[in-house]
Amino acid sequence: MDISSLFFLLCLLQTLSSSASSKAFDTLIGTSLSVEKPSDKLVSANGEFSVGFYPVGDNAFCFAIWMTKPSVPTVVWIANRDDPVDGKGSKLSVSKDGKLHLTDSAGSVVWKTKTEALTISEASNLQLRLMNTGNLVLYNFSSVAIWQSFDSSTDILLPQQLLTFGTSVISNRGQGLYSSGYYKFFFDEDNALHLLFQSPKLSSLYWPDPSLKNISDAGICIYNTSRAALLDDTGYFWSSDHFKFYATDFGTVTQRRLTLDADGNLRLYSLQEMNGSWDWVVTWQAISDPCRIHGICGPNGVCTYDHVSGRRCFCLQGFKMKDHSDWSSGCEPEFNISCDHRDESTFIQLAHVDYYGSDIDFLQNLTFQDCQEECLNWCNCKGFQYRFSVEDGGYNCYPKSRLLNGRRSPNFDGDLYLRVPKAGISNHKMPDEEFRLQCSSIVSKQERSTYENKTVKLLLWFATAVGGVEFSCIVLIWFFLLKTSKRPASTAQGYLGLTAKFKRFTFNELRKATRGFKEVIGQGAGGIVYKGVLPDQRSPNAMHTSDNGEIREHKRLVMLVRENVNIGTTEKSWIEEIIDPMLTDNYDKAKMELLVKVALQCVAKDKDERPTMTQVIEMLMSHED
Ligand SMILES: *[C@@H]1O[C@H](CO)[C@@H](O)[C@H](O)[C@H]1NC(C)=O
Ligand SMILES: *[C@@H]1O[C@H](CO)[C@@H](O)[C@H](O)[C@H]1NC(C)=O
Ligand SMILES: *[C@@H]1O[C@H](CO)[C@@H](O)[C@H](O)[C@H]1NC(C)=O
Ligand SMILES: *[C@@H]1O[C@H](CO)[C@@H](O)[C@H](O)[C@H]1NC(C)=O
Ligand SMILES: *[C@@H]1O[C@H](CO)[C@@H](O)[C@H](O)[C@H]1NC(C)=O
Ligand SMILES: *[C@@H]1O[C@H](CO)[C@@H](O)[C@H](O)[C@H]1NC(C)=O
Repeated sequence: MDISSLFFLLCLLQTLSSSASSKAFDTLIGTSLSVEKPSDKLVSANGEFSVGFYPVGDNAFCFAIWMTKPSVPTVVWIANRDDPVDGKGSKLSVSKDGKLHLTDSAGSVVWKTKTEALTISEASNLQLRLMNTGNLVLYNFSSVAIWQSFDSSTDILLPQQLLTFGTSVISNRGQGLYSSGYYKFFFDEDNALHLLFQSPKLSSLYWPDPSLKNISDAGICIYNTSRAALLDDTGYFWSSDHFKFYATDFGTVTQRRLTLDADGNLRLYSLQEMNGSWDWVVTWQAISDPCRIHGICGPNGVCTYDHVSGRRCFCLQGFKMKDHSDWSSGCEPEFNISCDHRDESTFIQLAHVDYYGSDIDFLQNLTFQDCQEECLNWCNCKGFQYRFSVEDGGYNCYPKSRLLNGRRSPNFDGDLYLRVPKAGISNHKMPDEEFRLQCSSIVSKQERSTYENKTVKLLLWFATAVGGVEFSCIVLIWFFLLKTSKRPASTAQGYLGLTAKFKRFTFNELRKATRGFKEVIGQGAGGIVYKGVLPDQRSPNAMHTSDNGEIREHKRLVMLVRENVNIGTTEKSWIEEIIDPMLTDNYDKAKMELLVKVALQCVAKDKDERPTMTQVIEMLMSHED
């Protein structure tokens, strides 16, 4: 052990003994913070911010700064958002050469500051301080800041935190998730602030409105070659590209944060006290029509939005949802178009539907016939946009190689013509009406097939489906199943087939399910409250991340099962209707029926109708005997 580690140890002991008095510190000198001690954290002098290890999942921790005041603590900065460390042995310490090192239990460095190497004596005189602004600063002995968390950001820009060259704000992957998502707020090459959708395969700017031919029309100036944007404490945001805005509660002294939410919208939040608890209120947002955010409904999906039902996704006629738990992967066609036989394709008109980008070509003043021919000339043409342009005084034709960023809005005065096989899709005399009907039937068909394939997923999703659900109830059922799987084969041959299947899903599915649970409950618990001042924000759907499409789908699944249970079919028992056909008859029908029934009770809309834990155990055990 060398001198400097000995010094760390001594200081650590000193800190620990003093922290026993439960006094919070804003400054750490030469010691380390350990994941195992929740008291190992720094708290800003004003008590508003804390930094330390923040749990982001099951035995997963991130070194993070969070705000303590809101009813649900809000994480504002994370060192290792895509690389969480485990709950044992991980720590943050100052290395011998004066860098902050975040190490996991194996001792490998998962994150470090990119600062200049210091000598041992310089390194042992560093101070780490959490400022009242939420900025974590590493000072050297002459009080020069050699590193600060404000130079990088996660999904949040705090007041006083400069957005400039090399910094960007990146959304979380989903509500309640902390890993990097697909949306980015940054200064692009044109020196203007932009919002970008960037998935592994796609990338497109969606704010300011990309349909503007000249960005200056949005009041943006691209000629200032410096890049700087800043939010101040009063709720005023200013940028070097001349973009600015004021919070609706401008001037009020409160905590604020500018967040690029996981749904791709940029929102300013203010902390406001309501009935004794502190909650976030939206006081500005970049985009009022959430369907204009790219990547929302995935390829071949269409986004619709109204104040009543909020934002919704659905698949185009002849398409089905690809991943039932994730709209961002979009829809896939249920038909094939052969390239060699162009006469086999035809087009369906979808009124007021817009797909942004992926144009194979752009042709001005074209007749409808010619535009159709143009699309047929391309093997990869999936359809075309045909719309009148007042500017150009004629109809413009946009053949599309992919159908991305789809939205339907009565305000959009163009139509999409979708390429489909002549033989493949049933009659479509009334395109728009049909479109709607077809879509709902496609969705429900899809629900069923997903359900049939993923029995466990459904059982677990029961837990997330209805807001405020007895999750533990589901966990119990799950343990019951696991327990059953451990029984000797002779007693329940059928069950083994079933549980083998269950096991294949369990861990991932449970993780996913619990995550979704947090999403639903988190929202219900009032993490964010909307203020009536901004008309487009009234709908709670407007802010919900992976879009409540997902939650809505799961609610529908529950309904579907309920219907099956209630109606009952004459030929088959209802359990056969909903169980994974791959199980054939290798399960105990009575037992499975019981499980599904208990699961359904657990997600009863009325909380009082849900069984207590004792009742669940009794119901499950009744079958054992
Ligand atoms: C602190 O950092 C500044 C700038 O890097 C440097 O000039 C100064 O000598 C450092 N002080 C100490 C005590 O290391
Ligand atoms: C965009 O608009 C600005 C001001 O209205 C004008 O000076 C500029 O020339 C325009 N740029 C283009 C490419 O049309
Ligand atoms: C350009 O940006 C700088 C900040 O980086 C600002 O001080 C200056 O006023 C801006 N110039 C104009 C003309 O807006
Ligand atoms: C606060 O409480 C009052 C009366 O108890 C109630 O009318 C109001 O809706 C509550 N406000 C919120 C935001 O919960
Ligand atoms: C489309 O063609 C591919 C390959 O020829 C085939 O695997 C797939 O099943 C077809 N899909 C449909 C919906 O017919
Ligand atoms: C559009 O094309 C038609 C015929 O091809 C022509 O008569 C008409 O002038 C064109 N209109 C414009 C605005 O170019």
